[in-house]
Amino acid sequence: METKTTVIAPEELNKQAEICGEIRAHWAAAGRTPRAFVDTYGCQQNEADSEKIRGMLAACGYEMAETEEGADVIVLNTCAIREHAEQRVYGNVGALVHTKRRHPGQKIFLCGCMMGQDHVVQKIRESYRHVDGVFNPHQLWRFPELLKYVLSTNKRIFAAEDSAGSIAEGIPLLRQGGVKAWVSIMYGCNNFCSYCIVPYVRGRERSRRPEDILAEVRGLLDQGIRDITLLGQNVNSYGKDLGLGVDFADLLAEIARLPGDFWLRFMTSHPKDATKKLFDTMAASPKIAKQFHLPVQSGNDRVLKEMNRRYTREQYLSLVEYGRSVMPDLVLTSDIIVGFPGETEAEFEDTLSLIEQVRYDALFTFIYSPRKGTPAASMPDPATRQEKNAWFDRLVTAQNRISEEIHRSYVGKTVRVLVDGVEGESLTARTEGGRLVRFPGPADWIGRFMDVEITGHNTWSLTGQPK
Ligand code: SAH
Ligand code: SF4
Ligand code: F3S
Repeated sequence: METKTTVIAPEELNKQAEICGEIRAHWAAAGRTPRAFVDTYGCQQNEADSEKIRGMLAACGYEMAETEEGADVIVLNTCAIREHAEQRVYGNVGALVHTKRRHPGQKIFLCGCMMGQDHVVQKIRESYRHVDGVFNPHQLWRFPELLKYVLSTNKRIFAAEDSAGSIAEGIPLLRQGGVKAWVSIMYGCNNFCSYCIVPYVRGRERSRRPEDILAEVRGLLDQGIRDITLLGQNVNSYGKDLGLGVDFADLLAEIARLPGDFWLRFMTSHPKDATKKLFDTMAASPKIAKQFHLPVQSGNDRVLKEMNRRYTREQYLSLVEYGRSVMPDLVLTSDIIVGFPGETEAEFEDTLSLIEQVRYDALFTFIYSPRKGTPAASMPDPATRQEKNAWFDRLVTAQNRISEEIHRSYVGKTVRVLVDGVEGESLTARTEGGRLVRFPGPADWIGRFMDVEITGHNTWSLTGQPK
């Protein structure tokens, strides 16, 4: 595996921009506006990458389409986190044979985390011959060049060289509009949790420069964005590679000092790197949302050690306790893996007791899925699927009860929300903690902060009346 991060030179990116101009001219000569469909799987990092893919396509003259049917270019931005995510992609790529048959000029590209695995690229090469191009996350900035190659030669291209990763500033972005936006502050991961594929497919940790991030956030605020989420696999190690003496808490504080009314969020935080300074910074700024996604994965020390998480249950709990001592209304969420190789029922029950103790607002729960090439994939895994399913159900039932109880306690309270959309007869809005609230009102309230009295609840959302 390569270990050196590459900074993509501005000349290289200018070259890509020139290629976009050539593709635009090609379509102008053909006398029509081409259409592109970009489909995204996986997490917000992939959503953020898709905004870049759409940005590059728009610069090449493409209009975005709602479906694959009839699109001139289809891009599937894939996720490799679990078997199920990969199976969905294979199923959908398979189905595109028919779509392409109906539109023979159609070009199909696959990118994203699955394409960071050699065995997947090999399979696409051999068994999915209707796919025209493949690029892994490190090659994303070269998409215009790859597209031009495929359009002008009608040959296939595979840009999947291994690399520690790159940083490319200035790729055009096409965001989907609305009042929220994601901003990537760093890429990659150095943690190598033993079950996880991300470090292999997304390369080493590398941070964007603070001035580039600040400029992007300023631009978003000028466009009316009111809810900004800073993204990274482990935002708490932001800046370590830059050597500028700026850590994540410093970056957060600096962004929160920008003028205007907005909420600032971030994800994801690794508990081993979460600091008191970070909690204090959050507590000190009204613009930093009091929401923390702090994946614990397991409540058992032996399992945590096998997962290579590098914290204990006690350390995790004391972090939560400190966070809540400085922010009593902190909304806490987490990720849990059920059925890690070798996990016993008693160890699973430690996870159950931890969630009862912490009382998270919400949980993202996953059954362990072996990932080729990760250490956990070769650990003995005696528990049956049936047992794991039963543990999973117990966990979800317990969490649903807790979430419901927390939601019930909101009824009668007035909360500040940011209105972000319309759904049927209601407006949808989010609280500072990221909770969904529905209430009646006109669509032109979208983008406003307002007070809402909570009148009803269920497990996942709240309903209310504007004050
Ligand atoms: N960087 C983040 C999240 C990465 S992936 C973090 O460190 O927390 C999101 C979640 O997917 C993880 O938190 C984990 O709970 C889950 N996950 C990752 N690999 C998995 C696997 N092989 N099987 C099941 N769940 C997995
Ligand atoms: Fe995966 Fe662990 Fe990195 Fe998160 S911190 S992306 S779980 S290796
Ligand atoms: Fe999936 Fe890649 Fe995200 S593996 S969860 S899309 S970082």
